[in-house]
Amino acid sequence: MAETPTAQTASLEGIEGELLAAVAKAPDLNALEEVRVAALGKKGRVSELMQTLGRMAPEERKSFGQAVNQLKERVGEALDAKRETLGRAALSARLAAERADVTLPVREGPLADGRTHPVSQVADEITEIFADMGFSIAEGPDIETDFNNFTALNIPPEHPARQDHDTFYFAEGPDGTRPVLRTHTSPVQIRTMLQKKPPLRIIAPGRVYRSDSDQTHTPMFHQVEGLAIDEETHLGHLKWVLEEFCKAFFEVPQVKMRFRASHFPFTEPSMEVDIGYAKVGDEIRIGEGDQWLEILGCGMVHPNVLKNVGLDPTRYQGFAFGLGIDRIAMLKYGMPDLRAFFSADLRWLKHYGFPSYAVPTLAGGLGQ
Ligand code: PHE
Repeated sequence: MAETPTAQTASLEGIEGELLAAVAKAPDLNALEEVRVAALGKKGRVSELMQTLGRMAPEERKSFGQAVNQLKERVGEALDAKRETLGRAALSARLAAERADVTLPVREGPLADGRTHPVSQVADEITEIFADMGFSIAEGPDIETDFNNFTALNIPPEHPARQDHDTFYFAEGPDGTRPVLRTHTSPVQIRTMLQKKPPLRIIAPGRVYRSDSDQTHTPMFHQVEGLAIDEETHLGHLKWVLEEFCKAFFEVPQVKMRFRASHFPFTEPSMEVDIGYAKVGDEIRIGEGDQWLEILGCGMVHPNVLKNVGLDPTRYQGFAFGLGIDRIAMLKYGMPDLRAFFSADLRWLKHYGFPSYAVPTLAGGLGQ
């Protein structure tokens, strides 16, 4: 019948319209792929149409086949066009969502996370200041001989000053003496004078040990020893050096210092030095107020000490001082409890520690 092809063409148009509408409606690439499979896939609408060809008369088959092929082509084109549009939209969406601000700083690594302990930082600050005054660094071991820690420093075995030191002793060695954990950095004076000839100007930062523990004392703490030996250095030089040191260290134009007469077996005369400060609220102000904190012991090197290291006391003279690093760190950076220094509390270290790039220099500033 003549109406068959028309009916078939009409239904082809209907199918095409349906398929094109489905293509147009597909909201994303996945949905579009489903539309494609439903239309052009092996079991899709177009294949179904193709299968009907076998049952047709040759004439009819030809024209219907052509019509189906054209439909297939148009639907294919519509799919391609839609795929491109959706693809572009998907790309823009991704670009918008995954936008990276390349000007943002990179995430901090472990280097930025780590902190320098205030004691190390303050020791560096101190050495920086004294290096600028011409002092070089000397070192000695934590385990010392009785001779270096006591006897050579004019503290013979029966001397009462040995009791003041709360010494940690080791077992007796073959020579009948007991090594000690050094109770101060003063044995580095002895080591230096035994090794080198004057003129000498050294400082020796390091750990020292005393069997003592409360809020302001820990069994291990830190000192910096200073020693200057030549033929004319006198007490005036000592005072000047310490005043200049304190001004530079606390970064103030003026400091209040009190030199009190004291006694050490290895210096004569001997003094203890207090530094004046005011407590305003939680803040500590150096150079004003009427509170005092003892920060160091010092004096002119005792003639007996010079003799003990083979120097002629009628020719050589000089000064020595021993400064508590932890004490002045507490003062400068407002850290109230000494025990926290050595409790390995990361929160404390994060708060009071220094970033690794904050290297103290006189030119760049000692503090943060
Ligand atoms: N060694 C002394 C102490 O630890 C300090 C000091 C050093 C005093 C040098 C005088 C000279 O207490």
